[in-house]
Amino acid sequence: MAKAYILISSMWILAIQFLIMVYKSDAKVPAIIVFGDSTVDAGNNNQIPTIARSNFVPYGRDFTGGRPTGRFSNGRIPTDFISEAFGLKSTIPAYLDPAYKISDFASGVTFASAGTGYDNATSSVLLKQLLGVPIQQSLPLVELDIDPGSDDVIPLWKELEYYKEYQKKLKTYLGEQQAKERISEALHMMSLGTNDFLENYYTMPGRSSRYNVEQYQDFLVGIAKNFVKELYNLGARKVSLGGLPPMGCLPLERTTNIFGRNDCVERYNVVALQFNGKLEKLTASLNQELSGVKVVFSNPYDPLLNIVRQPSSFGFEVASVACCATGMFEMGYACNRNNMFTCTDANKYVFWDSFHPTEKTSHIISEYLVKHALAIGDHLSVEEVKGCQEVEKGEENIFELFFPKIRRNYAEA
Ligand SMILES: *[C@@H]1O[C@H](CO)[C@@H](O)[C@H](O)[C@H]1NC(C)=O
Repeated sequence: MAKAYILISSMWILAIQFLIMVYKSDAKVPAIIVFGDSTVDAGNNNQIPTIARSNFVPYGRDFTGGRPTGRFSNGRIPTDFISEAFGLKSTIPAYLDPAYKISDFASGVTFASAGTGYDNATSSVLLKQLLGVPIQQSLPLVELDIDPGSDDVIPLWKELEYYKEYQKKLKTYLGEQQAKERISEALHMMSLGTNDFLENYYTMPGRSSRYNVEQYQDFLVGIAKNFVKELYNLGARKVSLGGLPPMGCLPLERTTNIFGRNDCVERYNVVALQFNGKLEKLTASLNQELSGVKVVFSNPYDPLLNIVRQPSSFGFEVASVACCATGMFEMGYACNRNNMFTCTDANKYVFWDSFHPTEKTSHIISEYLVKHALAIGDHLSVEEVKGCQEVEKGEENIFELFFPKIRRNYAEA
């Protein structure tokens, strides 16, 4: 048994290495441009007055130099791995980080902001929650100089404003024509939505008194649709719409599921599945409607659920609680260096803090998305897609073993 496991693990590692090799030769995607929330924020929130931060240890302890960057991870985040898989740089810098300039951003940039959502209202709920409860001493609100009337984090519409500013800078840097080409060939990735449900709809009274959850989903899908159209009008032609994870399995939600024996909160997973179904439909309709566009749906739901359900198949030991602190509640400022419960080896944990995956989980999911969504979406050349199919044939059992359900779906599609 142990032997078989070691064999499978090393086959898996080999397969990943081979995939990376195959994808690295790509030249068709010259840049990755990212919009979204904490799943893909590389430190934009460090530059704005908000409590949604992670630029302190133990965040980043497995990042190059053990440096906390503002990524909500012990190391890199999915878009970093995806960038590397496309043969681009191994980390995507945050647009607001003064350490980088347009020459760095020309091959990849993230406008993402932890805590944001599709819904404008989501970007200020953290602040409202804070103002509504007795403020904990540890939260440096005064230091941050927060204005209670303002947004706490960057709303999605503002990420788009930054993107417009970026395009101007890119034109100055590369010249008009080259900048246009760069934009049309760049992969634009969107990863957000979990906060709209968990931090906003199911936590604050506003939206849930106005919409039932299906209506709220439609409201968000409408915003996603307009956003992709805006990107298209600005010259983008390759867009990845990110699906929701099985958000009922995030440790924070499991902790509160006392009557469900701390298993995943089923109703949140159902909402994620419904919403993902709508995003998938949206993907199809956008491809029909916008000529010359290639939109793909990058869905982490099934691979992450597989990892949570069979953690040991992936070399993990713990999926129900996170590495940082008690693993039950803590994220952001509550996950800090003073917490002596933090685990020593994050690679044994599926989740890093109560809301975010470890670097290892992000790596596995990213490889899956590159292979099953981003490459299929013609972002790679035909040769490379062929290369993937050969990998698939040769190493069939690996994906069969880890992602049986997905493989079936994919084969049927
Ligand atoms: C969100 O806010 C921006 C800026 O005020 C506004 O332009 C946009 O229409 C709002 N979006 C929605 C869906 O209300």
